[in-house]
Amino acid sequence: ADSFDEECDYLFKAVLIGDSGVGKSNLLSRFAKGEFRLDSKPTIGVEFAYRNIRVGDKLIKAQIWDTAGQERFRAITSSYYRGALGGLLVYDITRRATYENVKKWLRELRQFGSSDMVVVLVGNKSDLGNSREVSEEEGKTLAEVEGLCFMETSALQNLNVEEAFLHMITNIH
Ligand code: GTP
Ligand code: MG
Repeated sequence: ADSFDEECDYLFKAVLIGDSGVGKSNLLSRFAKGEFRLDSKPTIGVEFAYRNIRVGDKLIKAQIWDTAGQERFRAITSSYYRGALGGLLVYDITRRATYENVKKWLRELRQFGSSDMVVVLVGNKSDLGNSREVSEEEGKTLAEVEGLCFMETSALQNLNVEEAFLHMITNIH
């Protein structure tokens, strides 16, 4: 273990879920490494990234899991959710079907995830306002109905990405 692991007060596991192509992997690489790729490939199986965060006087190591939105590339679902304290449920504001599918992802999350998970509903690609198919209001309303937090983000322009992850991480108790 490196010195951070020895000093670290908490290890938090969080998961990213949502349809293929909504930008999960780019949100994570933006948050963990400050990187964005326009030509990123669909995720196959499961990937991880870490970021260390100081919350008050505590050091938190956030371990964030990213999986494939495409069914055929997904790993075993129960182990993906096991022990997760937080989640970002992502849709793409320019593809209405990804918003309609949020309900499907919530069913899976409630089946396999812990009931006290902190979940943020994220409408990504806010930089593509001209091709918008889901209004910000619709995102907010759905989040309210389902008892989730809500934020629109752009991994490309680095808008609200930090806020979405930090909101999730700092609300985990
Ligand atoms: P799967 O791994 O298949 O589940 O997809 P994913 O949700 O991980 O999507 P990914 O991060 O690979 O992004 C898909 C495409 O959307 C890529 O071409 C990205 O460059 C693009 N993309 C991601 N985030 C944004 C964004 O905020 N704005 C714009 N304009 N494009 C984005
Ligand atoms: Mg991906």
